[in-house]
Amino acid sequence: MKILGIETSCDETAIAVLEVSGAMQNPKFRALSNIVASQIAVHRKFGGIVPNLAKREHQKNLVPILITALKTANLIYPITVSIGRPIDTVMNLRLEKIFSHEPELLKHFLKKAPKIVPPKIDAIAVTIGPGLAPALWTGVNLAKALALIWEKPIIPVNHLEGHIYINAIRGQKITFPALALIVSGGHTELVLMKRHGNYKVVGETRDDAAGECFDKVARLLGLGYPGGPAVAALADRIKNYESGIQVRFPRPMMGSTDFDFSFSGLKTAVLYFLRDHKNLSMRTKSAIAKEFQEAVVEVLVAKTIRAAKEYKVKTLILGGGVAANKKLRRDLSAAATSNLPKTKLMLPEISETTDNALMIAAAAFFAGKKKSAGRAHLRADPGARLD
Ligand code: KG4
Ligand code: ZN
Repeated sequence: MKILGIETSCDETAIAVLEVSGAMQNPKFRALSNIVASQIAVHRKFGGIVPNLAKREHQKNLVPILITALKTANLIYPITVSIGRPIDTVMNLRLEKIFSHEPELLKHFLKKAPKIVPPKIDAIAVTIGPGLAPALWTGVNLAKALALIWEKPIIPVNHLEGHIYINAIRGQKITFPALALIVSGGHTELVLMKRHGNYKVVGETRDDAAGECFDKVARLLGLGYPGGPAVAALADRIKNYESGIQVRFPRPMMGSTDFDFSFSGLKTAVLYFLRDHKNLSMRTKSAIAKEFQEAVVEVLVAKTIRAAKEYKVKTLILGGGVAANKKLRRDLSAAATSNLPKTKLMLPEISETTDNALMIAAAAFFAGKKKSAGRAHLRADPGARLD
């Protein structure tokens, strides 16, 4: 089977086609296409993501990316020679209604969609949340419009499910119970799974997400957006940690008996340090970045290992944008090896940590089989939760 995935929850416009073959017990996956257009350059000058700019970019990019994704997957003929389903006045009215808040997207859609012969896909998977409402709606409405003209089912997917299931497409099996640490710009969650599509959030951040904290500290240090990779790179510049520079930040909630996190105090600690120490050398800034990263990673790893032990999990999964952090990957691997020798650790490839639509198609396959939604009821859900 083939699943078309659509992801527009934040600042990446992404469409992919995932092919699943083989027996249901032992499925094989192949990415037929995985197209991502990043908007980083657009948002950078504002120091963060501007929701309506994201919506504007999604409206502009979605249809061209759809065509590229289908062409790459060999699912459409060159657009000039094919004649798709004509759009009559009734259909036109229905599409106008679907895209009533996305006139730009409607324009692009009407120009290209009638020329595309309905491709041989089995379902359309789309991120319904969590994310930025104006951004999410562009993807949701594109899914609705495609489902309408191609007569395909829609599978609504939670963005965080995607970050979990991208780990399953390289053939490794998730055995249950499983625990996923999801660390992204908007979320820091420990999710317990008893089976596919079953989630219980056993711990989460009470304030800032880990990625958000990286981004805020980057801003305090005068680094660009997105901040995570910039802080990590700065931290890497200092080789000798004990170089006479004394910086120590707290490990928030490290000792608490629950599995929750808190990162806003850590950000404030960095703020106060910078307020009290002026004209810092690059070396000192590196030491700050290093100690900050150390603090975040230490708390994440300690709580994850403790939760994995408590719930006796067989699989430990890492996902989300912050999963690209090398220190987190290294320390979590080392801690899992020594503390949980029987637990399988699933780390995404670095390239799989950023938002993409392949992960949405993968999640639809594993978690969404029973969730095929009626088109009419499909809504973006900016605050969607996993449980
Ligand atoms: O999953 P994602 O792409 O978007 C959301 O769903 O939020 O995560 C983006 C977050 C940003 O906060 C970014 O700064 C952070 O992931 N990030 C990193 C690294 N690469 C990206 N944080 C720490 N170290 C990194 N290497
Ligand atoms: Zn994400």
